Order: sequence, then structure tokens, then C-alpha cells
Amino acid sequence: MSEKQPMSSDHRNRPKNKEFREFIARGWAPRDERLPDLAEVAEWTPARREALSEAFPGERLVLPAGGLKVRSNDTDYVFRPHTAFSYFTGLGADREPDAVLVLEPRPEGGHEPILYFRPLAPRDSEEFFADSRYGEFWVGSRPTLESMAAELGIETRHVEQLADALAKDAGAVSLRVVRDADAEVAATVDQVRSEAGLVATEEQQTAVAEADAELARHCSTMRLVKDEWEADQMRLACEGTARAFDAVIADLPEAKRRGRGERWVEGIFGLHARHHGNGVGYDSICAAGNHANTLHWIRNTGDLRDGDLLLLDAGVEVDSLFTADVTRTLPISGRFSDAQRRIYDAVHEAQQAGIAACRPGNRFKDVHAAAIRVIAQHLFDWGLLPEGVDVDTTLDADTGQYHRRWMVHGTSHHLGMDVHDCAMALREDYMDAELRPGMVLTVEPGLYFKADDELAPAEFRGIGVRIEDDILITDDGCENLSAMVPSTADDVEAWMARILGDAG
Ligand code: GLY
Ligand code: MN
Ligand code: MN
Repeated sequence: MSEKQPMSSDHRNRPKNKEFREFIARGWAPRDERLPDLAEVAEWTPARREALSEAFPGERLVLPAGGLKVRSNDTDYVFRPHTAFSYFTGLGADREPDAVLVLEPRPEGGHEPILYFRPLAPRDSEEFFADSRYGEFWVGSRPTLESMAAELGIETRHVEQLADALAKDAGAVSLRVVRDADAEVAATVDQVRSEAGLVATEEQQTAVAEADAELARHCSTMRLVKDEWEADQMRLACEGTARAFDAVIADLPEAKRRGRGERWVEGIFGLHARHHGNGVGYDSICAAGNHANTLHWIRNTGDLRDGDLLLLDAGVEVDSLFTADVTRTLPISGRFSDAQRRIYDAVHEAQQAGIAACRPGNRFKDVHAAAIRVIAQHLFDWGLLPEGVDVDTTLDADTGQYHRRWMVHGTSHHLGMDVHDCAMALREDYMDAELRPGMVLTVEPGLYFKADDELAPAEFRGIGVRIEDDILITDDGCENLSAMVPSTADDVEAWMARILGDAG
């Protein structure tokens, strides 16, 4: 659940007299008690919960949303629910702090999903006007138990009943909890286990830790293959991302003029992300010139200058929390220099090779193998690999890898509700696994020549290029979900000219 409410400040005393309390509780129009329609996602969540239920028969499964996190004093960070909670409930955006989904085993088999959360408090409660963290005066109204049940199609209960529900039949029912979601809920589960004598020995402690880890792993692994609704959410995220890239290009002249143009770019992208969906799916990397060679450059303090490239790695996260993850490397002037175009074309060729490897039956790691071979070939052709090292030598996992000096990262990761999705899946289910229809992965090779790289040709120094698209595996190949964002060098120049006209 939430962290402890920060120290209450006595410089902000709220009225406590009875007359005021009665006054503030009355004179409001009746609440709209019409129930919402069942959410679209609620047609998909039962199958997800069913699959989880089948994997853990007879066990009580505890999936917390997590709580609010203090930013400073009485100010919290924007809430984001834990991904597993969101996946199995369908709640996205900022819903609902402190909520916990419990899959309660039924005696006859299967599980009953029950959502415990903090429902809307009545107007005669202290919370209504005085609680800046949860109160209606401060953060708006929340759903009632009935409206949440109608929206999600599952039973709902007050979060105050959670502790007793977790302790019910302790000893006879084993519990598993997604531990990293909420420390307080994890502690409650630990206490239940302890009181039931389930963690008396070291072996027992190891066993319950592994039981929890297995639940988290399973939740992560299940999301490797997206259902149709999830694929549509990814399309929506990519569409919003494409529009945000357009908006960034349209504002490049302003970004150049103002100085600290990387921040301006971050702001324009963030504006569109927040408007289209929930926000950015990760901190935008807005890296001009040599900053592109810092892979996770999110400080974004630099200027934009004609003659440099701008590497923009950014994605819109829609309200369901699915995020795009797209990179384009743009010539700030609108035209690539010869050296920039040579590097760009090499990266693009590598990316096309990677995308061509995205089909069922190929393994996840084959995508990297296809892309990195092209990268290595270009480095060899440019004479950058050490004396006597050819492409096959550098690609040897044990004795080579010289090319990594210029592309140290992998080519792909799974993508979905988390930008680095399904991160807890085992190697055999991820890296070594065959690609299956419904998987979504990025293909994002790059080449990075740092300004101080004395092994790079002088004309390459200070240039970093990455091109990243979001690829859905289909029955017979793949669909590039971000294909609407131009990506060949010619198409990028034409795209910029179309948006900027003479303004570039
Ligand atoms: N934006 C982080 C990544 O591309 O993996
Ligand atoms: Mn990215
Ligand atoms: Mn990525």
C-alpha cells in the first residue's frame, strides 16, 4: 500500500469544529449513481486471469497495484500501477493507488478475482475535504465499489478487508504475492505466512521466496504474446508517436532558435504524448550531435545546430499503458552530410536485415544476429576492425566482439506495457525462444562514433545514429507498427521538407 502519509504539518490546520463538518457535508447535488459500461478491455482480461489461474491451482494469488510514492513532503509522484496488476485488471493510467487484485481459489477449482481498493468516501467523512492524498476535494472523486465492479466485471471489496482476506485459512491455502509491487502488501503476506508457521526454517523461507519469484516470472512471461486488443493498443501508441515526431520536426526551427533545443524537443514530444495518451513510455532521449553517443542521454540540455544530427528515441504510452519505442535520427538542417548518410545507410541496412528476420520460427536472437552482421560488415569495409579481424572473427561470441565498440547494445527487446517488456522471462522463453505471432519487439541497431574516438575516421567522429521500429510478429512474417514514420535517408529528408517547407 501507500507509504506512510508524510509528517502532517501543523501549519495547515483544517477546521475541526462540528458545525463546519456538518456544513461542508451538505448542500451537494446527489451523486450520479448510474453504473459505467463494461470496459472494452474487460472482454480480454478473463482469459488472462484464466491462464494465470491454471498455472497456480488452489493458491491465493496477490497482485498489488502499488501505492503513491512521496516526491517531497505532501507531494506525490504521478501514480502508475504495477504492470502485472494492470494486465490482469485492465486498469491503466493512474489507477488505482493501493488497490490489490486477489485471485481467490474456489473449492471447485479455478479462481475468483476480487479487487480490493479504496472506494469513494462519503461526503460526511474527514477524507472528503481534509485528506490531500485521497480526498475528493483534493484529487477528485474515485469509483464506488459498484461502479468499479461494473467497469471491470469482477467483484470488488473495500481495501480495509484485505488483511483479513489474506489471512483466511492461513496454513491451508498457500499464498503468492508479486513482491516488488507494494512493500506493505508483501509484508502483510509475510506476516500471514509467519503466523501460520510457514517460514520457520531456512528451507521454507527459500521456498516461499522462489514461489513469489515464480509468480512474478509467470506474469512477465505471459505477456510475451499479445492478444488482438493489445496489438491494437500498440498500433494506437505508434500512431500517437508518429504524430509527435511530426510535431517535433515542425518545431525544430523554434528549438534551434531558443537554445537548449534538446529540452524543447523533449517538451514538444511530451506535450503530444500527454495529449494523445498517458504520457511518454520512458524518458525521451533527445540527443543532438555527440550526445547521441551517450546511449541513454536523457539530460537533454544541449543545443540544436545545423550540420548535426538529432537522435530522438521516444514513445507515446497510451492510457492502457502500452508504449511505442521509436528512434529516428534526423539531420537538423534537413539534409544529411555525406558522412552522416554513409553511417545512416549502414544502420538502415542493418535494421532491414533485422526486420527481415522477424518471422515465426526464427529465434529472438536471430534478429540481432542478422542486424549485427551488417554492422560488422560495414565496420570491416571501412577498415575499422583491428588488423586481421574479419566479419566472422568479430562475430565470434568468445574471441571477437570488436564491433561492439561502435554498437554496444542489443538490437531488440520485447515491447508492450513496459518499454523493456517481459523482463523477468527466462532466457529460454526470451532470447533463445522462437518468435511467435503476437510478439512485439523492437529492431534498433545503431552506430556510435564518439567525438573522442581516435580509431574512427575524423569525419565520423561525433556522429551517432540509431533507427528503431516496433515490429509485430504475424502468422507469416511481421508487421512494422511504426512504418508510418519515414526511415530511409531519402524519406527522412522528404518528410522534413514536407513539414518544414522553407522554414528549416
Ligand atoms: N528507449 C530505450 C530503448 O530503446 O530500449
Ligand atoms: Mn528506444
Ligand atoms: Mn528500444
